[in-house]
Amino acid sequence: GRLEKFMDELPDMPVLRGYGVAEGGNLVAGELAVGMYDTMWKFHRDLPATRVFAYGASRETATVPGPTIVAMKGVPTRVTWTNHLPPHHILPWDRSLAAARVGNAAGIPTVAHLHGGVQQSTSDGHSMAWFTSGFATTGPHFSSPAYEYPNQQLPGNLWYHDHAMGLTRVNILAGLLGAYRVADPAAEAPLGLPSGAEFDRNLVLFDRDFRSDGALFMNATGNNPDVHPQWQPEYFGTAVIANGKAWPFLRVRRRRYRFRILNASNARFFRLSLSGGLRFVHVGSDSVYLARPVPTEGFLLAPSEIADVVVDFAGSKHDAVTLRSDAPAPYPGDPGEKADTVAVMKFVVGSKLEHDPSTVPATLMPRYPKPDTREAVVTRHIAMYEYTKNGTDEPTHLYLNGAAYTDPVTETPREGTSELWEVINLTDDNHPLHVHLAVFAVLKQRSLRRVDEFRDCMRGGASGGAGGRNDALACGMRRHLAGGRRHVVPRQERGWKNVFKVRPSTVATLLVRFKPLEESSATASGKSGRFPFDVTAGPGYVYHCHVSIKQKTIAQFIKLCQTVFM
Ligand code: C2O
Repeated sequence: GRLEKFMDELPDMPVLRGYGVAEGGNLVAGELAVGMYDTMWKFHRDLPATRVFAYGASRETATVPGPTIVAMKGVPTRVTWTNHLPPHHILPWDRSLAAARVGNAAGIPTVAHLHGGVQQSTSDGHSMAWFTSGFATTGPHFSSPAYEYPNQQLPGNLWYHDHAMGLTRVNILAGLLGAYRVADPAAEAPLGLPSGAEFDRNLVLFDRDFRSDGALFMNATGNNPDVHPQWQPEYFGTAVIANGKAWPFLRVRRRRYRFRILNASNARFFRLSLSGGLRFVHVGSDSVYLARPVPTEGFLLAPSEIADVVVDFAGSKHDAVTLRSDAPAPYPGDPGEKADTVAVMKFVVGSKLEHDPSTVPATLMPRYPKPDTREAVVTRHIAMYEYTKNGTDEPTHLYLNGAAYTDPVTETPREGTSELWEVINLTDDNHPLHVHLAVFAVLKQRSLRRVDEFRDCMRGGASGGAGGRNDALACGMRRHLAGGRRHVVPRQERGWKNVFKVRPSTVATLLVRFKPLEESSATASGKSGRFPFDVTAGPGYVYHCHVSIKQKTIAQFIKLCQTVFM
């Protein structure tokens, strides 16, 4: 039967403090042990418990999403990640993807990535740094399960999730994800935003399907089964889960709340709005605060994107407010079709007006560097193109610039510099591009003209090796003639970000910054424009689309391009 909505109360995930407090009150590095456990999780009152893979400080405390890690700016958090998963996956894992192969050995490859974190690549969760239970098998880039996050970055919202090559999408679907905050009380408290556990909450959203016995459901037959028996480019579930509960409710007071909303879906976009005319006021996005608050009536949130918003329930005319989404799946889908509005959760608003000491100031963090294109030392063109089986629409793989993940590294930025990236989306779906380590500012987005000719060039170069690939890109570049319509970048997305939604048939111009956002911390370490660690040590960093839209989440098929520093 169908699950009734708004039956379960929105939980808060357990908090793990990512710092220690020494005698005398000084903050010292935090030491955490986080395991990945095979356990059960209740997604709805009327649904039997679901077998999941969950992060936790112990099996008993493991949750989906995992615990929220709260770190302090400038105070390192050391996490030792351990894998306690069984020999076999609970979801269809397609071994035809040249993935984290364990040969004939049993075991589930995992590796945790702190998304938005500025850390050495040996602690970045490189997709080939995976390991199975008890470290029985390890990937070629595995060095140690003890990761260090320096947290020498601006305060904001991050998240951690599995990142193993070829099975990220199933590991995340099984439950391996969680929220992470970098807090900086000295800079944040004076803002006066809603604070404390009751009024400042993480909201982690994703979609899932269940069998009637409570098991997670994922179609076990691939879209293109003679190429990949089980791989499906996208996953869409009909149940919307917030903090681990299907369509929960939250009792709120008539005052301001802060919600740090993460879309942790594999492929579903959320276009969120509130019933009854309530608005959002955006105060932050991926990783960092905005310079100034941005009010919206609704906004689009791609997989892996974060919106940090304040909602004031004092003005509500109703005692129930629904958070809902009307984004088509896949996104943007057929322009002629209207998408269903799906409920996300309900707020039950208290009747009496409360004294509210919180506020949203007119300026938040205005002193972050302004994007300056004159800083760019190189311009790169990065074309996303989806290859299909001859004569069909069925995708077999998606490459960036026609190159596979295993091909030689092509993006080799230098530490301390910025680059212009022209990201060209030749697919039919919106692709949220994510770059590790760096942050970027979106300068503009324009429609491509003659996109079919560009696609023809890419198709032609597909089989030609590196030379063919370069020719394909050059051929496409000669013809693409960007100059079509300009698309507005929403105001809440004009700050520094680590994810950008690249629309189909457009080119987005990003200024990518391969140096810390905060110059002062760099100066403190005596190295201006440098990261507080050796960026050249380790396997390097990756960039990729974050959707299983028409390919996967971080599967083999995306060129998880490595950005290696020289
Ligand atoms: Cu959200 Cu490569 O990661």
